[in-house]
Amino acid sequence: MGSTTAELLARKDICDIVIWNRTEGTAKGIALDIMESGPIDGFDTKVIGTSNYADIKGSDIVVVTAGMPRKEGMSRDDLLKTNAQIVGGICGQVKANAPESKLIVLTNPLDEMVYLAKKVTGFPRERVVGMAGILDSARFRTFIAQELGVSVESVSAIVLGGHGDFMVPLPANSTVNGTPITELMPKEKIDQLIQRTRDGGAEIIRLEKESSAFYAPASSLLQMITAMLEDKKEVLPCATFLDGEYGISGIFMGVPVVIGSNGAERIIQLKLSEGENAALKASAERVKALTKQVDLML
Ligand code: 2OP
Repeated sequence: MGSTTAELLARKDICDIVIWNRTEGTAKGIALDIMESGPIDGFDTKVIGTSNYADIKGSDIVVVTAGMPRKEGMSRDDLLKTNAQIVGGICGQVKANAPESKLIVLTNPLDEMVYLAKKVTGFPRERVVGMAGILDSARFRTFIAQELGVSVESVSAIVLGGHGDFMVPLPANSTVNGTPITELMPKEKIDQLIQRTRDGGAEIIRLEKESSAFYAPASSLLQMITAMLEDKKEVLPCATFLDGEYGISGIFMGVPVVIGSNGAERIIQLKLSEGENAALKASAERVKALTKQVDLML
């Protein structure tokens, strides 16, 4: 996922890129391979590969994709212990070598790994953010577009909550050119699409067996990175630390945030229905339980 993200970003020609991997040859090989596509595709992005953390010094943005991916039959939560060690170690190095950076985390279980990243680095909440909601919303948009036979570009959708089986797609806020999908499809169909969205990651693993998704996650990361580099103030669903917003505190979870050069700059408080609020609270309870396990590890 890291290399796919680096490749997409390199094509934009908007920043230098350092690819870190614990195996130096892998990092250097990928970096060189990406740069060698520059003459053909028309970009001059400098890409460095390294296994030395000192090379990330001065980075504006650090993206953590490292960790064990899920295998078939595993939930994202099953990865907690293994990935906490990996992400914890990396974040210690980020704190030491890029203390001014904005940190984007993508490792699963997502909400808990971002929480760990914030604890280990001590960065303010604006500078620690998790990518999941963009991906979950993109999956929901894809399924809506397929169902209605319209372009994905005409569909906007939003998925909040934890990045897991309890994520909260919002049909009333999901629209085709402004018309809510609740007016375009029967409830049973919407429920099916919501379930498919919740199972979106598992569906890819079931199909590919040996790999989990990485194209759509990498595109999602690219959107966040670009919004920060270009100070776009884009409103995107991202895992951010909640401090009373939506009536939830002390955990990271997906809500709409303004993403700009300072990171997750502002949380947008949506008006939710009673049912949506209850679903968000249920999702928060799940995240809270697992976050407690992270606290015990620290
Ligand atoms: C997904 O495919 C990577 O969790 C991620 O949903």
